[in-house]
Amino acid sequence: MKGLIVIAAIAAGCSAWTYTDNMTASASISINAAQKYQTMVGGGCSGAFGIACQQFGSVGLSPANQEIVTQILYDENIGGLSIVRNDIGSTPGHVPGDVSSILPVCPETPAGPFNYVWDRNDTCQLQLTQTALKYNPNVYVYADAWSAPGCMKTVGSEDYGGFICGVRDSNSPNCTYDWRQAYADYLVQYVKFYEQEGIEVSLLGAWNEPDFNPVTYASMQSDGYQAKDFLELLYPTAKAAFPNISVSCCDATGARQERNILYELDQAGGSGFFDVATWHNYQSNPERPFNSGGKPNLMTEWADGTGPWTPTWDVSGQLAEGFQWALYMHNAFVNSDTSGYTHWWCAQNTTGDNALIRLDYDSYFVSARLWAFASYFRFARPGSVRIEATSSAENLYVSAYVNKNGTVAIPVVNEAHFPYQVTIDLTGINATTAAAYLTDNNHNVSFVGQTQLAGKLQATVEPRAVKTFFLS
Ligand SMILES: *[C@@H]1O[C@H](CO)[C@@H](O)[C@H](O)[C@H]1NC(C)=O
Ligand SMILES: *[C@@H]1O[C@H](CO)[C@@H](O)[C@H](O)[C@H]1NC(C)=O
Ligand SMILES: *[C@@H]1O[C@H](CO)[C@@H](O)[C@H](O)[C@H]1NC(C)=O
Ligand SMILES: *[C@@H]1O[C@H](CO)[C@@H](O)[C@H](O)[C@H]1NC(C)=O
Ligand SMILES: *[C@@H]1O[C@H](CO)[C@@H](O)[C@H](O)[C@H]1NC(C)=O
Ligand SMILES: *[C@@H]1O[C@H](CO)[C@@H](O)[C@H](O)[C@H]1NC(C)=O
Ligand SMILES: *[C@@H]1O[C@H](CO)[C@@H](O)[C@H](O)[C@H]1NC(C)=O
Ligand SMILES: *[C@@H]1O[C@H](CO)[C@@H](O)[C@H](O)[C@H]1NC(C)=O
Repeated sequence: MKGLIVIAAIAAGCSAWTYTDNMTASASISINAAQKYQTMVGGGCSGAFGIACQQFGSVGLSPANQEIVTQILYDENIGGLSIVRNDIGSTPGHVPGDVSSILPVCPETPAGPFNYVWDRNDTCQLQLTQTALKYNPNVYVYADAWSAPGCMKTVGSEDYGGFICGVRDSNSPNCTYDWRQAYADYLVQYVKFYEQEGIEVSLLGAWNEPDFNPVTYASMQSDGYQAKDFLELLYPTAKAAFPNISVSCCDATGARQERNILYELDQAGGSGFFDVATWHNYQSNPERPFNSGGKPNLMTEWADGTGPWTPTWDVSGQLAEGFQWALYMHNAFVNSDTSGYTHWWCAQNTTGDNALIRLDYDSYFVSARLWAFASYFRFARPGSVRIEATSSAENLYVSAYVNKNGTVAIPVVNEAHFPYQVTIDLTGINATTAAAYLTDNNHNVSFVGQTQLAGKLQATVEPRAVKTFFLS
């Protein structure tokens, strides 16, 4: 068959699943570069709540391994991440497990004086950001506050939820003054401290999970109307200081919760006061396009917060296995035009499942979740644009991305327990070479073949695997 190229690399069967060895099915995939969707930002993680200090030695990780762990996460040829989500701390002084505020002492009134303190450390988040930048010079820094300083809130404390004094319904004996402008200035001051360190903050956020009051840690509530009351001050303040910065709304606990805030924000007349819709995947899934008025959306935090450490790709079917994360990302990118996907912690000394890399004193263990991120983001780099990709089989998921230089990434997720023979039809793509990278129980984004392109691409996609085709 003239013009058909074959990349066949069948994985050695070490699956927990059984299937008839010789059973294959065929499917056709169509890629069309003329139909463009969202611009991608990438994958990422966070070192909030002092966890960055564990990545930088507080539990015995040696300086050499601090570098290796950060490189595994952020190097373009390994984990391929490009987002760091930092917590703009609200704790006065240094308290283990909390993030120190740049305003340890609050003035009596919003008239000031504001004696900001910069310790060039930021509870180890500065070192995390600097080291990530070493391995990925284009890291997208998301600076996000969990709470305003307690003095600016109805509850008088960084914990216990509460509202910013000055937004509607912020009735409290603690709200003698309207602190909204002071809080906006405070957030911008944090960005200025990073600028002093030569680091550009790309995205600035004022809330974390404002639909949820966890009581025991830094938190602040807001509905969409109250978000409007604050963002109408933050947005012009941030843009005046940093014309290129983006402002987020609002890191809700789930996609549905975020959609609700966005509807209210719009009703309140505040849809012009944010640039990126940010949401977490804890309480609900994305499922459909966001009501963000055409603005991009990012999934900015998620992990299996309660489970034991799960490093596997596809052994148990548990929700935190790598293979499941590949499907979560596919669904967000294709069904909700999501531009990036941020895991909760980066690296943590733990037996739990909140980080991509588990530390144990000076040892480290990489979760296969990182290989799900890498299957997408080693190839669909920041600034790539998602293009049309369709599959003839419901359990064979495909998406495609054109990089700035015209190279194309096509991650294909095979959910079936048998291999698919696929024929990939390429429209509007000028590439001449196709390389294939496999991730399954035995491969971590491993190069498995390369060939010249001359028309359609024919390949095998292994069972329970992601195979990413990189066309250049
Ligand atoms: C698979 O096909 C090959 C060649 O047709 C045959 O020799 C082999 O017995 C088959 N294996 C199974 C498990 O059916
Ligand atoms: C940053 O502060 C932490 C305590 O919060 C400390 O353990 C660490 O050594 C400091 N890092 C640097 C680079 O000074
Ligand atoms: C006001 O702030 C104080 C702490 O400064 C707190 O104990 C109190 O509960 C707050 N009042 C209300 C109504 O939340
Ligand atoms: C904003 O971004 C543009 C394009 O990247 C750059 O040329 C410019 O210097 C930036 N401006 C500021 C104030 O950082
Ligand atoms: C680090 O992890 C190990 C293994 O889980 C645990 O025994 C140890 O207590 C942890 N250290 C700290 C400081 O949390
Ligand atoms: C194009 O960009 C991709 C992604 O950044 C990179 O991996 C690749 O080497 C570049 N190719 C060329 C030919 O510049
Ligand atoms: C292929 O080349 C054409 C003509 O130069 C160009 O318009 C098009 O954008 C290229 N396609 C991709 C995916 O880069
Ligand atoms: C990825 O797999 C290769 C080949 O099995 C292995 O050498 C390498 O250590 C793995 N990388 C990581 C970071 O686990």
